[in-house]
Amino acid sequence: MSNLSENFKNILVTGGAGFIGGAVIRQLLINSCANIFNIDKLGYASDLSGINETLSKLKLSNQKRYSQLHFNLSNFSEIEELINKIKPDLILHLAAETHVDRSIENPREFIDSNIVGTFNLLEATRNFLKNSSVDKKNIFKFIHVSTDEVFGSLGENGMFSEKSNYDPRSPYSSTKAASDHLVSSWFHTYNFPAIITNCSNNYGPWQFPEKLIPLVINKVLNKEPIPMYGDGKNIRDWLYVEDHAEAIILVANKGLVGERFCIGGNTEKTNKELIISICEFMDKILNREISSTELISSVPDRPGHDFRYAMDTRLINQKLGWKPSHNFNEGLEKTILWYLNNKVWTKNVLQKSNYNSERIGLIKEK
Ligand SMILES: NC(=O)c1ccc[n+]([C@@H]2O[C@H](COP(=O)([O-])OP(=O)(O)OC[C@H]3O[C@@H](n4cnc5c(N)ncnc54)[C@H](O)[C@@H]3O)[C@@H](O)[C@H]2O)c1
Repeated sequence: MSNLSENFKNILVTGGAGFIGGAVIRQLLINSCANIFNIDKLGYASDLSGINETLSKLKLSNQKRYSQLHFNLSNFSEIEELINKIKPDLILHLAAETHVDRSIENPREFIDSNIVGTFNLLEATRNFLKNSSVDKKNIFKFIHVSTDEVFGSLGENGMFSEKSNYDPRSPYSSTKAASDHLVSSWFHTYNFPAIITNCSNNYGPWQFPEKLIPLVINKVLNKEPIPMYGDGKNIRDWLYVEDHAEAIILVANKGLVGERFCIGGNTEKTNKELIISICEFMDKILNREISSTELISSVPDRPGHDFRYAMDTRLINQKLGWKPSHNFNEGLEKTILWYLNNKVWTKNVLQKSNYNSERIGLIKEK
């Protein structure tokens, strides 16, 4: 794990009650002495048990470095007041609505959080920096965490890189693309000290079980049909969440304002290959006699389903020395074992959010 530069004394993380933000905060609690402020609206996918578990292992003085702030980025005046109070040296911006299927069903929430929320954060931070000392301005960085999905869909060959054109094709990816453009234009127009990262699909413990890997694990566990969109041939590149969190911290330490980095696991899998790997691994652990692959059931494809994503990670590798430390089989095994040992967590978060693993994101005919 990389240690955070000591220049960053007050760190504001947005979306820290989410899957990746939680991993970033856990690493910061262990590897820095900074004060960490977690702004989150505490939405349906939020959960603080990972952070609380890490906090419980720390001394009281270290626990006091962490503050949970229940706020919505859509409210400009509240966010502006908070930023002026916190006086951050670093902002890691992860808050977003993130599930493509939900964006098909209810795009407005994605506009509010991903576009308006990012705009509010940028403007509140720009106002704060205007009135800050030169030293503060020299230290301050804003890391905007985004996705490979902003680049659209690849064919059988090629990879996305920092130079790829934007071509988002879902309400989720288009709102993330819009937020990337806002950040980039704030850098060019206002000299706003931002860096953008675009990362491929993450997986690991504490991911809300609507996303593919925990959803399949849960279905296998309950011997329920495993929904596979279309023919299962769509390809994703997978990265273990702790590796992404490390990359974000490294970018904060060593990245230069105005730079952009593509992050990925160099592990491309068709959805079908991935589902089969999970079934086979779980069958072994659970001593299942009938193969769980029998549960795989093809369901109507996601509207506008991108065929393939892949990331060229040479820049972050060569410039910052980052590469993932988990290989896919290792990461998947760790993840599956975690979900097997934390069935109560899965049950609780599903219950709390009123989500019953039902299919969402199909366009309903009138
Ligand atoms: N999960 C992935 O595979 C992946 C890959 C690449 C990039 N990303 C990006 O990383 C970031 C985090 O993703 P994640 O998987 O942890 O998502 P997540 O859905 O698990 O968590 C997002 C968190 O943001 C909070 N949030 C949303 N809107 C907010 C608002 N208006 N105000 C305050 N808080 C708000 C939610 O309550 C939630 O706790 C997102 O920006 C996402 O686009 C995710």
